[in-house]
Amino acid sequence: MIVARTLAELRVARAKLTGSVGLVPTMGALHEGHFTLVSEARADNDAVIATIFVNPAQFGPNEDFNAYPRTLEADLAGFERGGVDIAFTPLIPEVYPLGFQTTVEVTGVSEGLEGEKRPGHFKGVATVVAKLFNMAQPHMAYFGQKDAQQVVVIRRMVADLNFPLDIAIIPIVREPDGLAMSSRNRYLTPEQRAAAPVIYRALKAVGDAHAAGEHHLGAMRDIIRGVIATESQGRIDYISLADPLTLQELDAPTDSPILASLAVQIGQPRLLDNALLPFSLNTRAGLTHALGRV
Ligand code: PAJ
Repeated sequence: MIVARTLAELRVARAKLTGSVGLVPTMGALHEGHFTLVSEARADNDAVIATIFVNPAQFGPNEDFNAYPRTLEADLAGFERGGVDIAFTPLIPEVYPLGFQTTVEVTGVSEGLEGEKRPGHFKGVATVVAKLFNMAQPHMAYFGQKDAQQVVVIRRMVADLNFPLDIAIIPIVREPDGLAMSSRNRYLTPEQRAAAPVIYRALKAVGDAHAAGEHHLGAMRDIIRGVIATESQGRIDYISLADPLTLQELDAPTDSPILASLAVQIGQPRLLDNALLPFSLNTRAGLTHALGRV
């Protein structure tokens, strides 16, 4: 594995790759969710480029940019085990040189949900991902369903700006008790960690009800709310039942797929999770078809 720390090094290494190239962008502090993206990229392509860059542009002023976990040595070892050909780990000035003035802003799909809670977040994401696409020139890029709105925003950007690549969407990798893996899970105290699986239980409950014929949106939200209420530490930030193509909040029952997503605070940490309904759609093929298709 080549570790490229500068754009010049990446360019030299990229030029030597032949065949199809898969790109896996990350912010490091890697876990099985990230490594699953790597193994899917490895299986689909002749070569894999994976990146580690904690992107300051996507963190708000009161967010955890400085505290964000950084575990570079372990991350590189994991990439190497996963068969990555090039790990790109740039420093900030390499990505945002002095005089940087250009951003990418996707309107519409980036405005609700996380975009509403975190102003500017998706502008930072779209800008850095557009830059990584230009830097790495992949044929395929891999993103996790964990950040479902991010997937929809990036698919919109790829279509609107004609990036010559395909986006693969990889289902959420979970702990055995259902908690969605996240680099930020290490912020949880043992008590909070014990409470956190309530979020997945709520998604399962609404999935089961939906499968049994419950399509009334108010009733579905109540099911989620009721399960979260069983955990005294859980505070709902939002519950969303949205169209997975547009992320528009649903206002009438539908037989089409639904993206159920929620943000829940367990103490200080804020956890995100989501599922497509019906639950059988939460596969790579189902997600790639349903989520943000443009
Ligand atoms: P990061 O949070 O490090 O996530 C990198 C990729 O891993 C994202 O596509 C994310 O959705 C995916 N991922 C995270 N947890 C996952 C899980 N439990 N199962 C499956 N996939 C999971 O997302 C970002 O970084 C950044 O916004 C980035 C795209 C790198 C741009 O800076």
